[in-house]
Amino acid sequence: MNIMLFGAPGAGKGTQAKYIIEKYGIPQISTGDILRAAVKEGTPMGLEAKACMEAGKLVSDEIIIGIIKDRLAKDDCKKGFILDGFPRTIAQAEALEALMKEMNIKLDKVISLNVPDELIVGRVVGRRVCKDCGASFHVEFNPPKVEGVCDFCGGELVQRKDDSAETVGKRLNEYHAQTAPLFDFYMERGILADIDGTKEIDEITKEIFNILG
Ligand code: AP5
Repeated sequence: MNIMLFGAPGAGKGTQAKYIIEKYGIPQISTGDILRAAVKEGTPMGLEAKACMEAGKLVSDEIIIGIIKDRLAKDDCKKGFILDGFPRTIAQAEALEALMKEMNIKLDKVISLNVPDELIVGRVVGRRVCKDCGASFHVEFNPPKVEGVCDFCGGELVQRKDDSAETVGKRLNEYHAQTAPLFDFYMERGILADIDGTKEIDEITKEIFNILG
């Protein structure tokens, strides 16, 4: 099963991805996590991406499409995958379609998590993420069982550099200008399921499982 999670920054894509992995045993491909790992390692790609990410801007389509091409070619994607945070522009979506055609696979479902901008800021500023596995928690809405420790792998929880109130406004602007048009793009292809992302986390998970079967 090949799935894409779609939504604004902080809509809950990463949170839901962890439950989909647990149930369906398919890998999560988060372009944000891949870029953050490259920044941490100081690779040439990481150095190029760092400034964009810290400014709340999108990284170039060329870099992102290269990342996805390499990642989808890995063996663990053969049984399916969850795209999280990709595609984010029409050019990326078209490149993905071309790549999947070449690979003789298709996108089965796009799950859209719909959350209004007013709720996004509080979610993003209160978010804490695992340094090791990337899992997301929230100081108020989704606290870990032990403060500062990841429920999934025991890693340390930290705050992302771009999770400030100032940067989230810029990320939302990028989302509305460049990413939101993908809603219609996938609706037209008949594979988009629109979910109310303001519900409780476990209610949303149940809804996603119902859709995926
Ligand atoms: P990326 O890492 O993809 O960030 P994002 O899309 O901004 O998404 P987030 O990770 O912020 O949110 P999420 O939807 O996963 O929310 P989460 O589940 O954590 O990208 C970072 C940067 O990298 C971009 O700005 C860009 O520069 C670059 N980049 C990445 N991909 C790119 C691409 N394809 N093209 C170009 N550039 C790219 O939840 C958020 C918080 O809310 C958590 O604290 C969580 O616990 C809480 N929460 C979740 N669900 C609920 C709920 N139902 N109720 C209450 N709280 C909830």
